[in-house]
Amino acid sequence: MSAGIAPLVLLPGEGLEVLDQTLLPREERRLRLDTVEGLCEAIRSLRVRGAPLLGLCGAAGMALAATERGTGEASLREAARELTATRPTAVDLGAAVRGALEAALAADAARRETLLWERAEGMLARQRAVDGALAANGAPLLRGAVLTHCNTGALATGGLGTALAVIVEAHRRGLVDRCYATETRPLLQGARLTAWELQRAGVPATLLADTAAASLVASGRVAAVITGADRIAANGDVANKVGTYGLALMAARHAIPFYVAAPMTTVDLACPDGAAIPIEFREAAEVGGFGETRWAPAGIEAYNPAFDVTPADLVTAIITERGVARPPYGVALEELAARP
Ligand code: MRU
Repeated sequence: MSAGIAPLVLLPGEGLEVLDQTLLPREERRLRLDTVEGLCEAIRSLRVRGAPLLGLCGAAGMALAATERGTGEASLREAARELTATRPTAVDLGAAVRGALEAALAADAARRETLLWERAEGMLARQRAVDGALAANGAPLLRGAVLTHCNTGALATGGLGTALAVIVEAHRRGLVDRCYATETRPLLQGARLTAWELQRAGVPATLLADTAAASLVASGRVAAVITGADRIAANGDVANKVGTYGLALMAARHAIPFYVAAPMTTVDLACPDGAAIPIEFREAAEVGGFGETRWAPAGIEAYNPAFDVTPADLVTAIITERGVARPPYGVALEELAARP
């Protein structure tokens, strides 16, 4: 497992420490954040990222708001608004912020700061167990070589990971012998983060350009595709890193399973289907270069959605910590959500 990767450390009553994921794997630099504004910048620029980790950052951000700005209702509501607005697609972020706000407002003002830090600490402590259960549920589904997209490891959850934790666990059990990882343009979460986590976990790994995925799947080298999710609608439609939909189409065309692994916090039963999921669009500059390096002509327009939606009928199964949902997802997800 990717033990020892701590993308978020809470310093109750003081602030947070995050691993700056934009610098990995070149440099492991930890950033101290003691303002909500600083945390919002870190979220927007993907220094911290991945749906479950964004949820933890949301809860931690509300605790930070209480420490930095006080526990008055107006100030907590404003911090909640700022944090939620940073990235719209991952349901975990807004839900965790809302949950923290409601819990704080239900308590005496004098108790709110401690309560918010304890709440964030509880969530962070539970994430490892949630991810472990999810990995144990998913591992038996995998065999041989698998293909994954974006980064879904410890870096993305603050625990063990989702899809990547399933892969690592399946490798540990001798079921998976190789993981193919897409580079995941434009921000290269696969090439920079997943490749790094796979190496640390000792899983044989092969990196490919996103454009090579169709030929890889057609070659018969991979037995399954498995990804994470940023939001799963009530009907089983899945929003995840842009490019996921294409991989699901390839899997269907070549008759291999397409699995999604996500904790129940990523399932949004209030969202009826994929059309209702807000998709984040990002700057053209991310497509026309990387970091300081520019290769596209100045002024060129770019189409840069951060996520896409995979229709439920392309998803073979949704792996959660409570069990594995199979179609029809409307029924299966409600049934998992109702479990204690
Ligand atoms: O833009 P990112 O890097 O935050 O996108 C992350 C993903 O799309 C992950 O696949 C998803 O959040 C699942 S993380 C366990």
